[in-house]
Amino acid sequence: MSNTHLLSAVDLHKKFKVSSQRHSTRFLTALDQVSLHLSAGETLGIAGESGCGKSTLAKIMAGLLTQNGGNVFYKGTLLSQLEQKDRINFRRKTQMIFQDPFSSLNPRMRVGDSIKEPLKIAGVSVPLQRVELERIMAAVGLPGDTANRFPDEFSGGQRQRIGIARALAASPEILIADEPVSSLDISIQAQIINILLQMKIDFKLSMMIVSHNLLILRHICDRVIIMYLGIIVECGPASELFQRCRHPYTEALIAAIPGFHSLSASKDELLRDDLPSALSIPPGCRFHPRCRHAVDICRHEVPKLVEHATGHTAACHLSDSLYG
Ligand SMILES: Nc1ncnc2c1ncn2[C@@H]1O[C@H](COP(=O)(O)OP(=O)(O)OP(=O)(O)O)[C@@H](O)[C@H]1O
Ligand code: SF4
Ligand SMILES: [Mg+2]
Repeated sequence: MSNTHLLSAVDLHKKFKVSSQRHSTRFLTALDQVSLHLSAGETLGIAGESGCGKSTLAKIMAGLLTQNGGNVFYKGTLLSQLEQKDRINFRRKTQMIFQDPFSSLNPRMRVGDSIKEPLKIAGVSVPLQRVELERIMAAVGLPGDTANRFPDEFSGGQRQRIGIARALAASPEILIADEPVSSLDISIQAQIINILLQMKIDFKLSMMIVSHNLLILRHICDRVIIMYLGIIVECGPASELFQRCRHPYTEALIAAIPGFHSLSASKDELLRDDLPSALSIPPGCRFHPRCRHAVDICRHEVPKLVEHATGHTAACHLSDSLYG
């Protein structure tokens, strides 16, 4: 798998130290045996409830966080084995944008300078930097005369445009966006999503998009991964996942979408109780305390991710009997 994909990960494991008393240290498992790939030209969505590990996964794939186990490959080469110049190239080619664009911008730097920074680092001449700045600002819909302003003079939507422009200035081939629109008004969300879709075409990007919003992912992604408490429970082509999911957790998330009716039951019937703490992950299928279909085997045996149709995997003991 790792040899042919643009970016891939095998068996990622990430734990965080959460408290340390005199004689005991506690660890929280944020990712457990997570494997995935991103193909050239593809848009891959990552969804799941808060705390399931989406941002941790996104940062590891972008090379901004180190995993405790497993491997990340860039064009088939282990990230950790890239030579320095290739590592710098990977950093440039893989850009990340965040939920809160303001926090990733220097408040004392004019936005034009912020956007030009990657060009400067790449050694682009000053006149060419100006040309590129104009081109990129126009592409993301920022008026050219705003380049001399500071980030606090912009609205949330405009700041996200600046974040995207800054990422584009590095000439990336991969864009990893972590909740790029969740802090924005609904009307602005659509504008930013449309810019991302247009940028994907104009700049030939491959994208990984983390979002709580399954409707957005359905609209823009080729494939979607559903995560639950640090693992992947389902992954498949976006259209198929929404029409014919293969995991009760995915079914519950789909049932929770306003106006999207589940075939069998409401979200409340499909999703019992609250999300357990990542510090005490249930044995067997970690979704079993909330699953209305749980049977004995679910409480003690971990279900494997099984391929049910081409490229469509799910980790549920009863997937075949529930979804045929
Ligand atoms: N630096 C950290 N130190 C300790 N625990 C962390 C740290 N970063 C993340 N975690 C924990 O790891 C788990 C996964 O966190 P992560 O931020 O990846 O989730 P998420 O799916 O992005 O959630 P959200 O939808 O709220 O952004 C959570 O239980 C979180 O509390
Ligand atoms: S393995 Fe069992 S508990 Fe887990 S999702 Fe499937 S039916 Fe529910
Ligand atoms: Mg997050």
